[in-house]
Amino acid sequence: MRGMLSSLAALAAVAALSGPPGQASAQDSAPSLAISCGALGIELRLCKEGVEAWSAETGVEVEVVSTPNSSTERLALYQQLLAARAGDIDLFQVDVVWPGILADHFIDLAAYVPQAVEGHFATLIANNTVDGRLVALPWWTDAGVLYYRKDLLEKHGFAAPATWQEMTETAARIQAAERAAGNSDIWGYVFQGKAYEGLTCNALEWIDSFGGGTIVADDGSITVNNPRAEAALELAASWIGEIAPEGVLNYSEEEARGVFQSGNAVFMRNWPYAWALANSEESAIKGKAGVAALPKGGPEGSTTGTLGGWNLAVSKYSEHPELAAELAAFLTSKAEQKRRAIVSSYNPTFPALYADDEVLAANPFFGQLFETFSNAVARPSGATGDQYNRVSAEFWGAVHNVLSGQEPAEVALADLERGLMRISRRGRW
Ligand code: GLC
Repeated sequence: MRGMLSSLAALAAVAALSGPPGQASAQDSAPSLAISCGALGIELRLCKEGVEAWSAETGVEVEVVSTPNSSTERLALYQQLLAARAGDIDLFQVDVVWPGILADHFIDLAAYVPQAVEGHFATLIANNTVDGRLVALPWWTDAGVLYYRKDLLEKHGFAAPATWQEMTETAARIQAAERAAGNSDIWGYVFQGKAYEGLTCNALEWIDSFGGGTIVADDGSITVNNPRAEAALELAASWIGEIAPEGVLNYSEEEARGVFQSGNAVFMRNWPYAWALANSEESAIKGKAGVAALPKGGPEGSTTGTLGGWNLAVSKYSEHPELAAELAAFLTSKAEQKRRAIVSSYNPTFPALYADDEVLAANPFFGQLFETFSNAVARPSGATGDQYNRVSAEFWGAVHNVLSGQEPAEVALADLERGLMRISRRGRW
């Protein structure tokens, strides 16, 4: 069956129909593995190259199964497969906010490949440790950053903006001037405004940069209904149809990158992976983009960037957990992370690689923004544990309502607070 199905959705559908595998499930004579990888940009190709290098060394055949781009859809498919205890996928690429949700389905990698735990950012190892078990190895880390068109800023006499208010103003002015000069497709700002996990990441940045907290605090208290969060969301709502196209309400990472990379936006919020692609041969803006930390929410605010990133976990239902753990260790190793950083701007999870000359030559902003990467703001997945996805869905839903003009921020935040109270039984997660 494995060879025939290469989409995760098909696997999940089959697993849901057939239920948990019986004891008699056939052991292949020659062991083989299957790994789920993301496919944004050239992610899938990178995953395949890493896997092929390991296969060549070990002789073990590995199938690479691609997953939907939206992390929200990915999680739903993983949950279906894992609930059915399906062993079809041995290694799962998991988001930094999922260990608390999926931990029960994964083996303790510290017990299988202890050497692979060394040298990563300690915060990431802590993030992936649930009830004393290391359920995933860090593969790459992420933080939201601001991309800008160096050439357009220079042409119109602006510097990279220090505050969101300045970004709004600069975007509007350049957009107007460029349109007046005949560049009718240009927009000021693109970001991830669709109702999914990516919007949670964007909106957390706005709110955090205004000093409005992290939705739910580390102690579990619900803090999101506050005047700074309100001001942040009101400013973001003012962008829609003005400096950002209405369509941004349905953009995820790749749609935003498409617009920016084809030369039709002055600013973009995205993850570091967009850097290598913006500077690739196919890009209309090769050599014209700059990267900065995201702006502050006013002069009193702070620069920010939501912590993102992906990890590799091994399923408890795998028939070959030892082999799968070895593949996870290989793919998350320093050498492999260095390759991925150089070829395609994936941020390593080893602090040591931020001092590596080749990595820095390919990605100068890794050095300049080291603080942003090491102090990125975490979504409240630790405090809310296995409820995180519900919390995030309530949050992105409320934010989407504000952006689309259905509700003022004040109303949406008060409703959100009540919704989170219900999910958490009054702040006890
Ligand atoms: C990126 C981040 C991930 C986040 C996702 C949201 O892939 O690495 O952590 O959840 O974007 O779209």
